[in-house]
Amino acid sequence: MEQRSVTRETLAAQALGEADPASGGLAPVISPATNYERQLDGSYRQDRVYTRADNPTYELAERLLAALEGAGCACAVFASGMAAATAVFQSLIPGDHVLVSRVLYWGVRKWLAEFALTWGLDVEFTDTADLGAVAAAIRPGRTRLLWVETPANPMWEVTDLAAICALAHAAGVRVAVDNTVATPVLTRPFEHGADLVVHSATKYLNGHSDVLAGAVLTARRDPFWERIRSWRRNAGAVLGPFEAWLLQRGMRTLFLRVHRASESALAIAAHFHDHPALTAVLYPGLPSHPGHQIAARQMSGGFGGMLSIRLAGGAEQATAVLHAVRVFKRATSLGGVESLIEHRAEVEGPSSPVPADLLRLSIGIETVGDLIADLDGALSAARRGAARRGAARRGTAR
Ligand SMILES: Cc1ncc(COP(=O)(O)O)c(C=O)c1O
Repeated sequence: MEQRSVTRETLAAQALGEADPASGGLAPVISPATNYERQLDGSYRQDRVYTRADNPTYELAERLLAALEGAGCACAVFASGMAAATAVFQSLIPGDHVLVSRVLYWGVRKWLAEFALTWGLDVEFTDTADLGAVAAAIRPGRTRLLWVETPANPMWEVTDLAAICALAHAAGVRVAVDNTVATPVLTRPFEHGADLVVHSATKYLNGHSDVLAGAVLTARRDPFWERIRSWRRNAGAVLGPFEAWLLQRGMRTLFLRVHRASESALAIAAHFHDHPALTAVLYPGLPSHPGHQIAARQMSGGFGGMLSIRLAGGAEQATAVLHAVRVFKRATSLGGVESLIEHRAEVEGPSSPVPADLLRLSIGIETVGDLIADLDGALSAARRGAARRGAARRGTAR
C-alpha cells in the first residue's frame, strides 16, 4: 500500500497507527509479562528476557514519544520524571562539572544539592537565559553537561536553545533539555541542537493526573545513551506496563490538550496582566515577559499552559486567593486536564528562591471563562478580606 507521511498530531492520535497484529484491535494490548520463555535452542522469540530491560508496552510509548520529539531519536521511559532526570546525572562520572539552570523544577535542584556531592559531581547553578554567564561558567575539558529547563519553573524564564546549544557544543558540552512544560507540541529541542530531552511524563504527556512516569530521549545512540539505558535496567527505574499503556493513551490527545491549555493560559494572562491586585503576571506569551521574543521563535503553536501571578499584597494575599478559588484545584503538579493553583514558596520550604507572593497556575482544559471568573472572584474576595483586616487593625490601634 502507498505510504503517506502524516503529521505528528495524526501519529499521536492514532498511537502510530499500528493495529494489534494478533487481533487487529486498534487499541494496543498490555503486555504484563515479567519474563519470557526460552526456546530449546536457548534463544528467545523476540530477544526479550526480563521486563526490567524492556517490555512491548513501554516500547510503544517510547516509539510514539520519539516520533513526536524528532526524527531519528531514541527514547527510554522511566518510573518517574525524577528517575529520568537522575538517570542522566548518574550516567556522568565523579569529578564531572555540570552546569544547571538556576531556575528549574525544585525537585531536581533539591536532588542535586543532596546527592551530587556524594556522587562526586561538581554542580554549578547558572542563569541559562544569560549566554554570557553560561560562556563564563563553562570549564573547557571539565564541563560535561548543561541542564536547561525552558520555560523554567515557576518564573517561566526562557532559554534560547539554539544559541545555548551552539555555545555548549563549541566547548564539547552535552546539552540536556527538560521539555516537560513546553512538550514536543510546542518545542522540539532536538531541532535546536539539544543532545538529550527529558520529560516528567506525569504532566502533559499523560495529562490526566493518574500516572507517574518519565522519559529520556537522545539524538544519538552513543555510549552515553548506553549508560543511561543500562542505568535504567540495572537500577530498575522502569515504568510498569499498565502505566506505559495509560501513557500512550494520554499522548493520543496531547495536541488537543496542549493547544487548549495554551490558548486559555494566554487569555488568562492577557485578562489579568494589569489587574490592580497583581504586581506581575509571568507568562512567556505576554510581550512584557523578558523571554517573549525567544519564546515566539522557539515555541510554535502556543506558549504553554503554565503561568504565575505575583500578589501586590504579598504572601498573605497569595494565601487568601488560594483559599478563595472554587474552580481551580488547590494541588501540586501540572499538565493535567484540571486547572491547579499552588503557593510554591510554601511547598518548596525555607530554602526556596521562589518569591512568597507568587502563585503558580497550571491551566487545564475547562471553559476559560469559568477560570477567569474564578480567579477574578478570588482576587476580589482576597482584597475585601485584606480591607476588613486593615480596618480591624486600625480600630484596635485607636
Ligand atoms: C519540569 C519538571 N521536571 C521534572 C519533574 C519531576 O517529575 P516526576 O514528578 O514525574 O518525578 C517535574 C515534577 O513536577 C517537573 O515539573
